[in-house]
Amino acid sequence: MSPGRLDWLAAPGRALAGELAVPGDKSVSHRAVMLGALAEGVSEIAGFLEGEDTRATAAILARLGVRIEAPGDGLRRIHGVGLHGLRGADGPLDCGNSGTGMRLLAGLLAGQAFDSTLVGDASLSRRPMGRVIGPLQRMGARIEAAGGELPPLRIHASNGLQAIDFKSPVASAQVKSAVLLAGLYARGETAVHEPHPTRDYTERMLAAFGWPVRFAPGEARLEGGHRLRATRVQVPADFSSAAFFLVAASVVPGSDLMLRRVGMNPRRTGLLAALRAMGADITEFPAGEQGGEPVADLRVRHARLHGIAVPEALVPDMIDEFPALFVAAALAEGETRVSGAAELRVKESDRLAAMAAALQALGGQVAETPDGAIIRGGRLGGGEVHSHGDHRIAMAMAVAAQRATGEVRITDCANVATSFPGFVALAASAGFGLQPAPALG
Ligand code: S3P
Repeated sequence: MSPGRLDWLAAPGRALAGELAVPGDKSVSHRAVMLGALAEGVSEIAGFLEGEDTRATAAILARLGVRIEAPGDGLRRIHGVGLHGLRGADGPLDCGNSGTGMRLLAGLLAGQAFDSTLVGDASLSRRPMGRVIGPLQRMGARIEAAGGELPPLRIHASNGLQAIDFKSPVASAQVKSAVLLAGLYARGETAVHEPHPTRDYTERMLAAFGWPVRFAPGEARLEGGHRLRATRVQVPADFSSAAFFLVAASVVPGSDLMLRRVGMNPRRTGLLAALRAMGADITEFPAGEQGGEPVADLRVRHARLHGIAVPEALVPDMIDEFPALFVAAALAEGETRVSGAAELRVKESDRLAAMAAALQALGGQVAETPDGAIIRGGRLGGGEVHSHGDHRIAMAMAVAAQRATGEVRITDCANVATSFPGFVALAASAGFGLQPAPALG
């Protein structure tokens, strides 16, 4: 084991019970700090995700001259510098593990009057950036990348951007958002059309900061040359973090768990539909709106799950939830089929390969396909599984271990701090058998 590597030991705990509040939404936190930085006036963010990904974005904006105070846990006070107030930084800007950070910042930086270089960790340095570079170059941005596609991204000072009408070949909120953020600096109306609607947080938050934006599922339009006005943002709890508990309480007998004030944006909650189709017992108690987003308390009780064919139309609405869904499927009765999900191969890891290998290592029956998998439910045993440094693989396998017949060692879990700091303690408090593994000598 390499020095500093964090492994977990996981095994069945007790029935999951009690009330949990998972941390703030990662997507919303990134966008709040970016728009707060470009706004005029002081924005206040509450419920900001204190994760490595979102902190990396805040640290980059601070290096670009934005004063950001952190008066308490999950709180940020951002002294916005206005649309043209950022100034160039010496040296590369480190996005860490975050694809959202790098792709959105690429759009935001494409319109600046200074050069920037965006870098990331080993995982991010393997992820495709051509999907944002292409449309940004069409807008007039000058961006270089390794082999035309990979980080680091060298973004040259802009000579002015031109709006485009962009038909995205991929259903990606990051691509849409990069183009829209560049569109703030472009002459004319920028339009993005998606092959399938994706999360619309950028659009909603631009509107909350006072920028005129027109959007409907699958389409967004805005014009350059307006202003962002500081505002308050209350970030809802992250549905993707809640997802691990929705699956865990569904599969562990006797569980009855309440998750408080979870963000319920319909472009995020596809897993709810999939789990319900599998027979899950989840009740929603709408709890109003938080920062313009619907939120709900979710009560989840153990249920017998059965396999389904996941409708391809649901895939973008649950794109981050497949590691959790795979675990539900591996413990359900019968077969679950996933297709139309090739995007999972370019996430923090190749999630189709990583989940298939991890479940197989515990005796699960999973056959990978080019764009999905066929999972046959059954029993899982103990063993060692590799997270590939991917936060969601690590957390999903901690859930799987709650129904394993032996202890599961999950390797390389430090990156869970990118999206869900405190996961081990929170999960253990709910009943998980989960702890950091003692360092090997
Ligand atoms: C995100 C969009 C999705 C998602 C990621 C967050 C965002 O990525 O997987 O975790 O905040 O816009 P893609 O745009 O690559 O689908």
